[in-house]
Amino acid sequence: MNKPIKLTITGAAGKIGYDLLFRIAAGNLFGPDRQVEFRLMDLAREDIQKKLTGISKELEDCAFPAVAGVTVTGDPREAFDGSEVVFLVGSKPRTAGMTRKDLLSDNGKIFKEQGKALNDVASRNVKVLVVGNPANTNCFIAIKNAPDLDKSCFSAMLRLDHNRSIGQIAKKLGINPGEIRKMTVWGNHSSTQVPDISYCENNGGRIEGQIDKEWQRNEFTPLIRNRGTEIIALCGASSVGSAANAALCQMRNWYSGTPEDDWVTMGVPSDGSYGIPEGYVYGFPVTCKDGKYSIVKGLEPDEYIKKCMMLSFEEIREEADMAQELLN
Ligand SMILES: NC(=O)c1ccc[n+]([C@@H]2O[C@H](COP(=O)([O-])OP(=O)(O)OC[C@H]3O[C@@H](n4cnc5c(N)ncnc54)[C@H](O)[C@@H]3O)[C@@H](O)[C@H]2O)c1
Repeated sequence: MNKPIKLTITGAAGKIGYDLLFRIAAGNLFGPDRQVEFRLMDLAREDIQKKLTGISKELEDCAFPAVAGVTVTGDPREAFDGSEVVFLVGSKPRTAGMTRKDLLSDNGKIFKEQGKALNDVASRNVKVLVVGNPANTNCFIAIKNAPDLDKSCFSAMLRLDHNRSIGQIAKKLGINPGEIRKMTVWGNHSSTQVPDISYCENNGGRIEGQIDKEWQRNEFTPLIRNRGTEIIALCGASSVGSAANAALCQMRNWYSGTPEDDWVTMGVPSDGSYGIPEGYVYGFPVTCKDGKYSIVKGLEPDEYIKKCMMLSFEEIREEADMAQELLN
């Protein structure tokens, strides 16, 4: 029998962490028979640790066969010790009046500290998925603070944008979302992201010919870019179920692979592809095999998409500049 997988969720007392935990424990990530040793991490505050203890008792009450053990902690080093799979969810959500810079300076510090702890104690093959916003730049900060880990151990979550795009295309064409392959969302997980349907296929072939360009540019792209804001306006809080689902989808593909005739979007450190300077964490189409991701090469975005891709990159570069003091 395989040894249990050591898996950490930070922000486990928060909304996304809570949803993610029970889905993984039920077997939605590695299958119901693969044992997982959970490390639930959140702030070391007494009230929050008490809540985590309550959550761990709820987990016991599910009697999931896949749960090999649960540790509750406020210490990143204890949380990441030997961890093979890590979801970095814990961070402050943006509140009214907060600028992107304020958010970055508050949350960036968390990812500096956690990057260092991962560097010191995590498995050398760890897969770290950064969910907390601003996800691309937090991931960049964590990588810069973990020089002994290969940067391919990290990715940022763009899967929610990817899934949202597939959902809208399926709705427009009146087909099942499961039919749609090869969606791409370039760039930053922000309002500059570039959902690109140019390569999408369904059972009828390329879908580009089935959808007009006007709809793509004037309705689809703004809808995807602003979907998070729309959800906040309706629910009074940022996405939870769809965000936890996206984290699960991204890690599942990274861990278990992508189908032969498909790819997925992940925020990964650039290797210089598509004119994006090396090292910056950017949304790319990737395939995954044997636990590793590779950027899909050889696509030829049109001039309009290329322009949008560079605008999104400029935002990522500005965020990295703002985070300079957190990078080492
Ligand atoms: N990338 C995406 O697509 C995406 C989508 C939705 C939400 N998010 C982001 O995910 C994050 C979590 O969202 P949520 O709805 O679960 O928020 P939440 O406020 O419900 O939970 C956040 C949790 O993080 C904890 N936390 C804060 N600082 C921490 C630290 N230093 N170490 C460990 N835990 C810490 C808090 O105590 C809290 O329990 C937010 O940053 C949100 O913006 C990202």
